[in-house]
Amino acid sequence: MLNEFLKCGIDAALKSGEILLEGFGKSFKIYNKIGKNNLVTEYDLKSEQIIIEHIKEQYPDHLILAEESGGETKNYKNYKWIIDPLDGTVNFAHNLPIFSISIALEYNNEIVVGVIYNPILKELFYATKGGGAFLNDIPITVSNNDNYKNSFLVTGFPYNVDKNPYSCVDTFVKVVLEGIPIRRLGSAALDLAYVACGRFDGFWEINLNPWDVAAGFLIVKESGGRVTTYNNKEYSIYDETILATNGKIHSQIVEILIS
Ligand code: IPD
Ligand code: CA
Ligand code: CA
Repeated sequence: MLNEFLKCGIDAALKSGEILLEGFGKSFKIYNKIGKNNLVTEYDLKSEQIIIEHIKEQYPDHLILAEESGGETKNYKNYKWIIDPLDGTVNFAHNLPIFSISIALEYNNEIVVGVIYNPILKELFYATKGGGAFLNDIPITVSNNDNYKNSFLVTGFPYNVDKNPYSCVDTFVKVVLEGIPIRRLGSAALDLAYVACGRFDGFWEINLNPWDVAAGFLIVKESGGRVTTYNNKEYSIYDETILATNGKIHSQIVEILIS
């Protein structure tokens, strides 16, 4: 059954990828959402529509939670698809080719399927619960590095970063001052996918939404990584803080985040 759901998620992501590629680099409508620099383009909306149509065609009874049209935020003992139709909208809107589509399926409070697709590089990351994680059908694992001082990390900032919520700017400065190389790519889903396949050793961010993290959470876990809140508690996609690492540097990063 999970494989059928996976196929549905993958097909929806591939369809959406075609739409996003059609629009990328062209002129399109851009609207402002609440919050400075929080944008939505007509392609976020087109992508979301095509994904939802694809899922609803096959599973009309399943619930949907999607960034642009909303939906069920509570957990039910039912199947719920959690969709970010374009993760990295600000990049997309500025013609920067770093963005993805994130689709996950939640059942009984657990993420059971996760798909993240980068249509520019044609990289398809996916996982099913208990079935491992893959990049373009090849199994992936997290990195082996066990010393955070040698690590390569990625993070992101919320749209209200100017208010320094959770002292996120200070945390960033603390890590920078450790001399650790850090990237800020602008797509939390890709950040997680890249931890899963060992490109990064760890990722942290605050105030993400379930659609940013649901697929990546499962993909990191299934690739052997560890995902918790900043204070090392078991993570839920509804939490306000997320730390995802290869597991080996996890407690060292927790120390920095909570100190
Ligand atoms: C954003 C990206 C970004 C993260 C923001 C998210 P969006 O999603 O994932 O990396 O830092 O907090 O909101 O708006 O491009 O779907
Ligand atoms: Ca997002
Ligand atoms: Ca989005």
